[in-house]
Amino acid sequence: MLLVTGGAGFIGANFVLDWLAASQEPVLNLDKLTYAGNLHNLDRLQGDARHVFVQGDIGDSALLGRLLAEHRPRAVVNFAAESHVDRSIHGPEDFIQTNVVGTFRLLEAVRHYWSALPAIEKEAFRFLHVSTDEVYGSLAPTEPAFTEQHGFEPNSPYSASKAASDHLVRAWHHTYGLPVLTTNCSNNYGPYHFPEKLIPLMIVNALAGKPLPVYGDGMQIRDWLYVTDHCSAIRRVLDAGRLGETYNVGGWNEKPNIEIVQTLCRLLDELRPRADGQSYAAQISYVTDRPGHDRRYAIDARKLERELGWTPAETFETGIRKTVQWYLEHPEWVANVQTGAYRDWVAQQYAGESA
Ligand code: NAD
Ligand code: DAU
Repeated sequence: MLLVTGGAGFIGANFVLDWLAASQEPVLNLDKLTYAGNLHNLDRLQGDARHVFVQGDIGDSALLGRLLAEHRPRAVVNFAAESHVDRSIHGPEDFIQTNVVGTFRLLEAVRHYWSALPAIEKEAFRFLHVSTDEVYGSLAPTEPAFTEQHGFEPNSPYSASKAASDHLVRAWHHTYGLPVLTTNCSNNYGPYHFPEKLIPLMIVNALAGKPLPVYGDGMQIRDWLYVTDHCSAIRRVLDAGRLGETYNVGGWNEKPNIEIVQTLCRLLDELRPRADGQSYAAQISYVTDRPGHDRRYAIDARKLERELGWTPAETFETGIRKTVQWYLEHPEWVANVQTGAYRDWVAQQYAGESA
């Protein structure tokens, strides 16, 4: 089986759902269920014996040791992280605890488990670390996109903590021979995206008649990838990636933030017009910029395409329309994550560590 960490979050849940839709291989899903973890993301797997959920922390060495010994996974895919840049600015400590200390503890537990495996299983074992393009820092307008050779220049507490985790993963390969792979992906969007991030926040605020808060001049550029394309890239790297290598993942979709917000307004105008006939764009409101805001990210994903034949299935136009439609069709999911009621439900349903 596969051990997936952070599999109740946005990308992790999409990965687990896609994995079990395509494969019979079971998934052990270890997630702390922070504010960002939501078991409702996995509702489709209720009663499916191939999905084993454990509520727990990647920093809990004793729990990790027990889970590895009991379930004997053939690979670990590490999504677990604190992931929101704005939260890292207000409270960096959790980012250091999970992204740095947690990754370290996970690496150590996995190293001890892997070292004792019989030769054939040891040879086949993989540890895939899911990381971000933000470790590379910020690009000037005409600079070429980040390749895997680009130096690390993280600018926020979040990106610095992810860069630290990437370095640990690299060192555990170089020093101990742990069979690791790292992916550095650009901005994801799609179903189950927590509405603290740009795209889902704009959709839910628009529908609620609230302002659409654009930081600074709105001309910061991000490179967007539909989440299931990120999942297919991870599956491909897990299958065939070269040990110790890093692979950039992206869809060549650089867009300024204000263009993203205007696109969302246009789609909502078409699919759920405002009662007063005005455009949702009337709700756009420029607000104070994020401190240290990175100006531009862009990913050069040619290595992944050249070596492993991966290309994204969605264009930005198809992916963003699907995303808006998903939010329109799942008002109960949005209401749940906004009220925090899902956490009460989890406490009641999953008292103890397993469910
Ligand atoms: P998310 O915040 O939606 O989900 C993170 C999940 O990790 C949650 O379910 C949370 O409960 C869990 N978690 C947090 N701390 C934990 C701990 N100590 N132990 C166990 N579980 C813990 O994040 P996401 O957007 O799904 O990102 C997943 C991974 O992908 C992260 O490592 C992130 O850095 C990386 N990434 C994200 C993006 C993006 O655009 N969202 C892009 C590139 C890379
Ligand atoms: O690049 C990959 C990264 O993308 C991931 O590693 C992170 O986990 C993920 O959160 C994301 O980071 P960003 O900071 O780019 O994403 P966010 O959705 O927070 O913001 C996207 C852009 O939109 C950014 O330039 C800030 C801006 N923004 C964001 C919010 C929440 C606004 O203008 N207004 C907002 O209210």
